[in-house]
Amino acid sequence: MALTMRSHGTLGVASLLFMVFHIAITSSQARTVAAETTAVYDVVSLGAKPDGIADSTLAFVAAWHAACGSEMPATIGVPPGRFLVGGATFSGPCKNNAVRWHIEGVITAPADYNVLGNAGTWLLFQSVDGMSISGGVLDGQGAALWACKASGKNCPSGATTIFFSNSRNIAVNKLTSLNSQLFHIVINGCQNVRLQGAKIFASGDSPNTDGVHVQLSSGVTIMNSRIGTGDDCISVGAGTTNLWIENVACGPGHGISIGSLGKDLEESGVENVTVKNVVFGGTQNGLRIKSWGRPSTGFAKNILFQHAIMSNVKNPIVIDQNYCPNKINCPGQFSGVKISDVTYQDIHGTSATEVAIKFDCSPKNPCAGIRLEDVKLTYKNDQRPAQASCVNAGGLAFGLVQPSSCL
Ligand SMILES: *[C@@H]1O[C@H](CO)[C@@H](O)[C@H](O)[C@H]1NC(C)=O
Repeated sequence: MALTMRSHGTLGVASLLFMVFHIAITSSQARTVAAETTAVYDVVSLGAKPDGIADSTLAFVAAWHAACGSEMPATIGVPPGRFLVGGATFSGPCKNNAVRWHIEGVITAPADYNVLGNAGTWLLFQSVDGMSISGGVLDGQGAALWACKASGKNCPSGATTIFFSNSRNIAVNKLTSLNSQLFHIVINGCQNVRLQGAKIFASGDSPNTDGVHVQLSSGVTIMNSRIGTGDDCISVGAGTTNLWIENVACGPGHGISIGSLGKDLEESGVENVTVKNVVFGGTQNGLRIKSWGRPSTGFAKNILFQHAIMSNVKNPIVIDQNYCPNKINCPGQFSGVKISDVTYQDIHGTSATEVAIKFDCSPKNPCAGIRLEDVKLTYKNDQRPAQASCVNAGGLAFGLVQPSSCL
């Protein structure tokens, strides 16, 4: 059978169960062929239990195997209820390019973080072309792992909740992701991914719970979403092009970040990113670009930040080319990452610190073509003027810019 899976605990009976599922699927498929043009696979009829206790991993993987193997469009139904699913890989290529997940229930990760351990991902989709996910709640149950990490004990690194790898033509609508162990959603090596109406929440002090991380991908759209986590709401890694982010509310969290870039010497660049109509509340950063201080072929260019509202944000506008979060083993060299053509347009609101605009660029590759237009940021609700700081940054200011531009 062409499926990969990592189950936990029930592997011993996997092949027997698959025989049973296979027969059930074949007969139900035969029934649907005559009646309609979409095959429907309900996880409960494949053995999943909506009680949140029984391990439903095998039923979910069986439903995927049937839907992905269907010659016609196929829907996987997840009815209301709580479904416990361990680590699962949903691999293509599929025999159709219209697999649809219709999720009404809650899918929960194992409460014991040692089950996923260092697996890296909880729900992994790879090499899929043409799939949609509608609705659903993914509960990563990350709180116990965060507490373990906070206590300084030796803990596993945890798992990203949902990871899309080397896939294309993916639509995710109205998905809720709660309390991931590690990142919530990762889009890696993909083309044409639309994420709309997402709700992503984890505690503001949870470690590495980035909302959406995009890398090595083109044509990703993130719209109409609310994200509050303990790390970046959205992080944009190397090799991201043609990214569109619109109508996103972020907070708590570390803001919307391009980077960190320049971790590797050989690295692909970030190009053509639009971030518009975004709101930040109480976040550590607003609109950030960050790179490590070391040589790299990386770059970030043609970036547009438009229509943003900041409310009590520590670093509303920041480019940091000496990024080194824990200040230990910092590379301490000049960043090789070239940052150019970055526009900030219509950015208003309040800064929680005095320096509302900070461009700390590389002496070796000064930032070029930075444009500030209609920017008004005040420090603590107009009590004191905010400041702008520029190092190795070149560009122009247009219209009202407050604090006054240092470019
Ligand atoms: C930039 O990306 C957008 C999608 O975000 C796309 O519509 C547009 O064509 C891209 N522009 C260029 C010059 O590639």
